[in-house]
Amino acid sequence: MTNNNIYFIANWKMFGSVKLVNSLNNVISYSKKNKHKAKIVYCPPYTLLKSFVDKTKNSNIEIGAQDCHINSDYGPYTGAISSKMIKDLGAKFVIIGHSETRKENDNKKINLKIKSALNKKLNVIFCIGEKLIDKKKNKTKFVLKKQLLEGLKNLNKLNKVIIAYEPVWSIGTGIVPTENNLIKNVKFIKDTLKRSKKFSMSKVLYGGSVNQKNIKNLMRIDNIDGFLIGGASTNEKIFIDIMKKSII
Ligand code: 13P
Repeated sequence: MTNNNIYFIANWKMFGSVKLVNSLNNVISYSKKNKHKAKIVYCPPYTLLKSFVDKTKNSNIEIGAQDCHINSDYGPYTGAISSKMIKDLGAKFVIIGHSETRKENDNKKINLKIKSALNKKLNVIFCIGEKLIDKKKNKTKFVLKKQLLEGLKNLNKLNKVIIAYEPVWSIGTGIVPTENNLIKNVKFIKDTLKRSKKFSMSKVLYGGSVNQKNIKNLMRIDNIDGFLIGGASTNEKIFIDIMKKSII
């Protein structure tokens, strides 16, 4: 199996400096090799968006932000960044609803953010995932369905929305769900989307402790359309290794 059309999205979270932009050199040349047709997206912090866009100009790597404001244009919101501003920098993606931002964002606000991003024609990486307590109480499906349906409320053009399933208990912990568990939950997400007649074609990614050691196993799960990678994506050698090992 090749990694054609599989997404490898690097979420750098609060990490990175202007100097580190050069660490993209090897990933850029890797992405230009023909046999690797993976779709690579880097989501650095806002401060590095422009440098990343400039650096990847003549490559097939895309750039995204890690969040945006509910208002898609300009406005009196100190410290905030809108989808218009993200678009203006040349970025094409935005992560919305990441669990690390959900304390300040309920499903309603996430829905408004997704609308604002789509309004500016950005691609949305919409994160959902249950907490450990939900899993223990057998509430995973309930939580995923609620996050999906409320987050995507009143939206019908979902071809620009990619779902990232990130169980909160697997983020940064080194723990990945079992193969069965992942197959089941990703299928549940896809079925829920189909049933709601929303985005039968939507891609579903997995995120949470993806690394060069577990990628081969994860690639065997054939209903996963790619990966949202945190820590391991900030090291270019490891990130490239993950993509190389994804070819099985
Ligand atoms: P880690 O890969 O560091 O577990 O982070 C996952 C994540 O939150 C990506 O959005």
